[in-house]
Amino acid sequence: MRRVLTLGLAAVAALIAVAWFAAHDAGAHALLSRGDPPINASLRESPTRVTLFMTERLQRSYSSVEVLDSAGQRRDIGGTEFSDDVPTQMSVRVLQLDPGVYTVVWRTLSEVDGHTWTGSYVFSVLKPDGSAPAGAGVEIALDRPGPPVEADAAVKAVGLIALILFVGAVWMALLLRERAARALLPMIAACVVVGIAATGYEAISAALRLGNIGFLGEMVFETGNGLWMQQRWYALIIAAAALAGHLWQPKHFGGRPLLSVLGLLGIVWLASTSAVSHGAAIGSGWIWGTLFDAVHLAGAALWIGGLASLLIALRRTELNRVDAVRRFSIAAAISVPILAAAGLLSALIQVPSASGLVDTDWGIAFFVKGVLLAALFAAAAANAFLLRPRDESSDGRDIALAMRFARLMRLEAALGVAVIAASAVLTQLPSPASVQPAVEQKDNSVVERVTRGEIAASLEISPNLVGFNTWTASIDGDDRNPVEALLMRFRYADDSVGPVTIAAESIGGGRFRLEGAYFGLPGVWTVEMEIRRASGDDLIAPIVTNVESGYQASPFAADSGGALALPLTQMDWNGVGALWALVLGGLIWLNRPRVRDRWGPRGGDAAFVGGLLGFIIAVVLLTGLHVEPGRTLSNPVERTAASVEAGSTLFAINCASCHGATGAGDGPLADSLPAPPANFTVHVPFHPDGVLFAWISDGIRGTGMPAWSPQLSDQERWDLVNFLRATFDDPGQ
Ligand code: HEC
Repeated sequence: MRRVLTLGLAAVAALIAVAWFAAHDAGAHALLSRGDPPINASLRESPTRVTLFMTERLQRSYSSVEVLDSAGQRRDIGGTEFSDDVPTQMSVRVLQLDPGVYTVVWRTLSEVDGHTWTGSYVFSVLKPDGSAPAGAGVEIALDRPGPPVEADAAVKAVGLIALILFVGAVWMALLLRERAARALLPMIAACVVVGIAATGYEAISAALRLGNIGFLGEMVFETGNGLWMQQRWYALIIAAAALAGHLWQPKHFGGRPLLSVLGLLGIVWLASTSAVSHGAAIGSGWIWGTLFDAVHLAGAALWIGGLASLLIALRRTELNRVDAVRRFSIAAAISVPILAAAGLLSALIQVPSASGLVDTDWGIAFFVKGVLLAALFAAAAANAFLLRPRDESSDGRDIALAMRFARLMRLEAALGVAVIAASAVLTQLPSPASVQPAVEQKDNSVVERVTRGEIAASLEISPNLVGFNTWTASIDGDDRNPVEALLMRFRYADDSVGPVTIAAESIGGGRFRLEGAYFGLPGVWTVEMEIRRASGDDLIAPIVTNVESGYQASPFAADSGGALALPLTQMDWNGVGALWALVLGGLIWLNRPRVRDRWGPRGGDAAFVGGLLGFIIAVVLLTGLHVEPGRTLSNPVERTAASVEAGSTLFAINCASCHGATGAGDGPLADSLPAPPANFTVHVPFHPDGVLFAWISDGIRGTGMPAWSPQLSDQERWDLVNFLRATFDDPGQ
């Protein structure tokens, strides 16, 4: 009874923790990663299409983009389009947009975890003279219900515990045979019931998040997440039927066949859970992410689920204690390192940077889980190495030791349940990898002063970046000849834009303010303040300022976007798989003697083959399966003179600093990079357009070649490819 009480208390404490964390939930999952046109962009011309890249694969039926003008009228032609190549992308075509401010509204349903989200951002189309249009973005009621509530996280925890106990109990029943199986069947049946109910709750809550309960059918039958729920239900219902059969005719539906069927269904249950995990949502590496998650769950089930089952079996039956504990210990010793390694890899995948751990709720939950795990490991190690009864006689002799062992085993099980609850919290929080990278606004603000005659004027420009700015002027003048109005005239360095003249608004005390997007390009701008005075003798006070682009260009962006999900900088996904195969194969190989002792020569042979297999898989992954990114992309932008010209300009601005003006790899920054930039004349002819595009978009890990997708639009990157082709393909010309 005390044991049940301890476990129950631990579970309640864990659920309270779950609810507490879930209350801090920051947001769910398919979020905006970037847009084309970008957030707050000021465009010289109307775009033809608005394309959004989200952080997770999209469920097409419930994801959409709309473009509204400042009167709230739709300016897209409707019918959001999706890409087969890029499942995280959606776009919509827009009508010819007049100068104005436009609001992009997006709604998503993540195909991976069924969470919904909504958001919006603004861009503007400048007037033909380069000045900012009138109008503002529209406020949208984000009408979709938001992130999951506490109850969702608690139910998730209950479902996970049921899954882990189910798999662990079936496993222990197989390990300990007949008598234990009978003691464990009631718990197995309870887990099935809980699993069916928890999945039902998840489906209902997902439907409610889509709108109302009427969405249940569509949720279950038309979404990716619903598909996995169905799998889980089918597996659980078959399990329930098998158990009912056993109750009705124990002779025919029992023993090993029953347990084997239940075991298989447990694997389905487990797989359908991993398929909707964070690991499944990380983009290109989702296969590995899902696999790590599944291995991690399986390890947890064999250890924690197995331990809880062992405690129950020992209480209810006259099993040989020493033997049962020994069998469990071996299984645990194998599953714990695997569980830990898979967990560590999943964590690395989901934490793109150290700040992801400190700043996010996910990070806090991860820390709590880590502390619980450390305690759990300590208890398990004490049990396995110090207290475990070695043989019958010692078990009988030292009763105090045996009592301590039993107590510590219960503690181990309780801690295990708490760890599972913490894991459930993690699944409900957006992982640092899926959280929208905070668009850190640069600040290039300046205050400039000029004097003209008896007037001293100062002008503050904030943030002094391309796009929306505020100009605040203070003018100290002559009281007898007050300043009546202030006009600001904007000129671009080469006079290719403007001049545009706008009246600033008086805010009293000789101060004037103007807001708008009058800096359309990075570079040197002159702001001429035309000071109108009562006497009629106007003054012109010019101020020159260097306007920067608002984008934060980090040379190592490749390590913090897209491919960032990789655990190590120099590794691609096949490398990760190979490492895994090698580690697992090596573990099996090293344990050959122990396996042979326990399971005889056939076990030894199996371990030999297992080790060899790991090695072979590693070699194949490293050599055979190396797929170059972008191989299958075809260039949608025709190589016209205009496109090459655009690429050439972009190259001079963005690339020449490293690659050199002639593409020889000798730019001023070249020497400071981990790897020297390639000589394009030698390299470009050998790579198809798609590969060049992928490199330019995602960067090249570990070389200093930055990812340009955050800064340059798809069109611009294809222009660059066209420029490279035209310039370096045939150096003889
Ligand atoms: C911060 C320095 C830096 C900047 C800026 C930079 N690159 Fe690179 N780039 C590199 C380095 C380093 C490599 C790696 C050399 C290698 O391994 O081939 C590279 C490689 C490449 C490659 C692959 C060459 C090959 O065949 O191996 C392409 C294509 C490329 N860069 C295009 C661009 C374009 C286009 C831009 C501008 C939008 C750009 N780079 C800007 C440093 C830079």
